[in-house]
Amino acid sequence: MTGLRWGILATGGIAHAFANDLRIAGLNLTAVGSRRRESAEAFAAEFGIRRAHSSYAALVDDPDVDIIYIASPHSRHHEHAMLALEAGRHVLIEKAVTLDAEEATAIQALAQSRGLLAMEAMWTRYLPHMVRVREIIAGGVLGDVRAVVADHTQSLPTDPAHRLNALELGGGALLDLGIYPVSFAWDILGTMAGIRAVGTVGPTGADTEAVIAATHSGGGVSSLIASSRAAGPNVAHVIGTRARIDIDAVWYTPASFRVTSTDGTLLEKYASETAGRGMQFQALAAEELVASGRTDSDLLPFGESVAIMRALDDIRAQLGVVYPQER
Ligand SMILES: NC(=O)c1ccc[n+]([C@@H]2O[C@H](COP(=O)([O-])OP(=O)(O)OC[C@H]3O[C@@H](n4cnc5c(N)ncnc54)[C@H](OP(=O)(O)O)[C@@H]3O)[C@@H](O)[C@H]2O)c1
Repeated sequence: MTGLRWGILATGGIAHAFANDLRIAGLNLTAVGSRRRESAEAFAAEFGIRRAHSSYAALVDDPDVDIIYIASPHSRHHEHAMLALEAGRHVLIEKAVTLDAEEATAIQALAQSRGLLAMEAMWTRYLPHMVRVREIIAGGVLGDVRAVVADHTQSLPTDPAHRLNALELGGGALLDLGIYPVSFAWDILGTMAGIRAVGTVGPTGADTEAVIAATHSGGGVSSLIASSRAAGPNVAHVIGTRARIDIDAVWYTPASFRVTSTDGTLLEKYASETAGRGMQFQALAAEELVASGRTDSDLLPFGESVAIMRALDDIRAQLGVVYPQER
């Protein structure tokens, strides 16, 4: 363990989950920053953090912080990541990494020019069951992988002011939920080559449902669903010519899976035994990268996060969702 000193930017829902997982993993949670002093102090008290800052600027300027975890709404990720990088801090940025590909490209350029790590907090990629899924595929057990099928569907608040529905905050099922199956299909099958998307747009102009069909550079296809209106199975399948992997609910969190051959023989059963929510694995990966002097993730290079944002831009255009920042 390198003992990177973590600073948490923003004190909302996911910041709490992440801080809890850092604590479970025994990592060094050094500081927190919030727009409001009371929130920073309450968060610091909850997690035993020594330094509470009443602005994001003060957090990134704290000389005792090495890496900033950015947990603000996606519409603010660009601004906050640039702030942290300008201050010389590495960044782990919540998904969706930005509102669009243009913003993500700017972060990549600044991180590269400063020699700092920029990494998207697509925690699913770093989970132990996903490590095993990739090993099985690389070992040829599935044969030629032809398809990925996955949903990320939840029944979430319909309040127009809620982050998920407010366009100004980057609301929409695609950027909050759909990014998981898109990133997963990308991981397994490679770049999305052709994309068709249809969906439903709610009263605020944010998408509430999206169905995505894509062809991939690796030759396979994917069929993906995101919904913030109704909870579905939340399972994923990787289908090959010799066998398939069925990942149980909730596939994007620590999950069990089965590998079954085309003749119905059970080839492997994987049971998940992960402490906490599972967000610590991406943090451990970030620590290892920095310790070995690298500034990009091998599991999810930032260039791939940018390319995924470009695909999400394309899907959003097909759904007819435009953020006010883009007008
Ligand atoms: N990895 C996951 O499983 C997961 C799950 C849920 C969400 N997320 C991602 O994490 C990010 C935050 O989501 P969340 O659910 O934690 O949101 P949330 O509960 O609404 O918290 C967001 C926090 O961002 C800060 N903030 C800065 N500018 C803001 C603004 N203009 N309006 C509102 N809040 C602002 C606030 O912290 P202060 O008041 O302390 O400044 C607020 O508490 C999103 O990008 C989301 O996609 C990831």
